[in-house]
Amino acid sequence: MSKISISASISHEQFEHPFINAAGVFDETAKDMDEVLNSEAGGVTTKSATLEPRPGNPLPRYYNTEFGSINSMGLPNQGLEYYLDYIKNSKTNKPIDLSISGTSMEDNLKALKIVQASSFEGLCELNLSCPNVVGKPQIAYDYDAIKETLDAVFSFYTKPLGVKLPPYFDLQQYDAVAKILNQYTLTYINTINSVGNGLIIDPETESVVIKPKGGFGGIGGSYVKPVALANVRAFRQRLKPEIKIIGTGGVNNGLDAFELILCGADLVEVGTALAKEGPQIFERLNNELTQIMKEKGYQNLSDFRGKLKEYQG
Ligand code: SIN
Repeated sequence: MSKISISASISHEQFEHPFINAAGVFDETAKDMDEVLNSEAGGVTTKSATLEPRPGNPLPRYYNTEFGSINSMGLPNQGLEYYLDYIKNSKTNKPIDLSISGTSMEDNLKALKIVQASSFEGLCELNLSCPNVVGKPQIAYDYDAIKETLDAVFSFYTKPLGVKLPPYFDLQQYDAVAKILNQYTLTYINTINSVGNGLIIDPETESVVIKPKGGFGGIGGSYVKPVALANVRAFRQRLKPEIKIIGTGGVNNGLDAFELILCGADLVEVGTALAKEGPQIFERLNNELTQIMKEKGYQNLSDFRGKLKEYQG
């Protein structure tokens, strides 16, 4: 039997391993991103960058539970120029994806014009789904705003572009959003961002566990895995095949990744579990996924990607 490969690709970018960090975890500084690149991760995504550096929301703004996490980070980041410099100076042969999350349409367009004019040729991801900036709704819950943004972006942006989407919960939402996205030369979607504005409380102290926004924050980890599976599956059934999918949400082990790929994910991102376990998690995930493929007789991810079956009762 020939060797099992877990390599993946999106556009021209080749990932020897299909796992990378979810934007926002282990990626705010050069040191963090170096750690991810020096692990068995397939590549790294930068923290979602704004035009200027941002301190983010007040602390505490992140909290782990047994089943996941809540965060209201508020886009703390070093600014777009820092991440472009990091990418330019990096000696890695792994892909580095650039995440952008302006706090206004104007800032998103300005940032993408800077990226368009730069030497960066990798995957750029426009975050349309940050739930944690006070006073700023998640763009991707407003269909007109998605369309307005993408019309403006694709009037000048010609490099590979993805969008980070929030979770959707209704089949009509998938229909409506996919119909819009299919109109553009989008390279990929990344689904899902955290489940926005959830609440985790400490019954001992009878209080919320994070300070910003009265305790409301984005929920990640095992809590959200079924939602991530559904979003990957629903979009794979609706998007044109040229639009690839990064599956994100609730990945703790190789089996979680196997299921996301079965739903149609081309690449898999890891957030809460990476925050808990650190970049050594990537070696474990690669090994666990490879072992599952060995047991099932699969040699490549394409052998089962998107091949989830209907109920077999
Ligand atoms: C944050 O910085 O608040 C998280 C980013 C996101 O969820 O998009």
